[in-house]
Amino acid sequence: MTTEEIVIAPSILACDFGRLSDEIQAVTDAGADWIHVDVMDGHFVPNITIGPRIVEAARDATQLPLDVHLMIEQPERYIESFVKSGATTVGVHAEACPHLHRTIAQIREAGARASVTINPGTPASAIEPVLGDVDQVLVMTVNPGFGGQRFIPGTLAKVETLRGWIQDRGLAVALEVDGGITEDTIASAARAGANAFVAGTAIFGAPDYREAIAALRQAASS
Ligand code: DX5
Ligand code: ZN
Repeated sequence: MTTEEIVIAPSILACDFGRLSDEIQAVTDAGADWIHVDVMDGHFVPNITIGPRIVEAARDATQLPLDVHLMIEQPERYIESFVKSGATTVGVHAEACPHLHRTIAQIREAGARASVTINPGTPASAIEPVLGDVDQVLVMTVNPGFGGQRFIPGTLAKVETLRGWIQDRGLAVALEVDGGITEDTIASAARAGANAFVAGTAIFGAPDYREAIAALRQAASS
């Protein structure tokens, strides 16, 4: 995999929210490719985070694509609102969507890239039927809800499976991993076939954002 294909997406969940705009500008200047935005509702996951108004603030802070990860029940109720707020990509969990195909179409009709996400306990086969309908797949490498958790290596078998399907079918689908991505874990995810990497703690918890992003990129391409 060449360096150009690697996407590093800092998750603002780990940033200083009191200085949100400055933090987003700082990682933008430090070489981030996308900004990852974690939306949690206290139902689908135990934690509560942010809504469309904060996505709007993030949109004002950077020109980079906003990768909005919805960890909410009934995401179809909020898709248009997040796209209007500036989301480039809207990701929904397969586990939260009984009508997954329809919800993916709704994201694209609203004008955003469509991403479909699976939890560690969900098989790759759950999203195999919609692989040709999405722009991105996100394999969670922790159980969603909180930053700073430990990477689950067993999830990488699904990354391998999905990369195989994407390649065999000649699809232009980004394959992203999220959760516990660090300098130590990113290489194994890249080897399994991931090309987009969300990192919260490993970037916003580092003293130098530029060095942290460069180190992740380097480790992913090694
Ligand atoms: C977890 C979120 C992640 C989280 C990753 O539910 O989806 O995006 O911010 O944080 P780290 O990189 O600290 O595991
Ligand atoms: Zn996320």
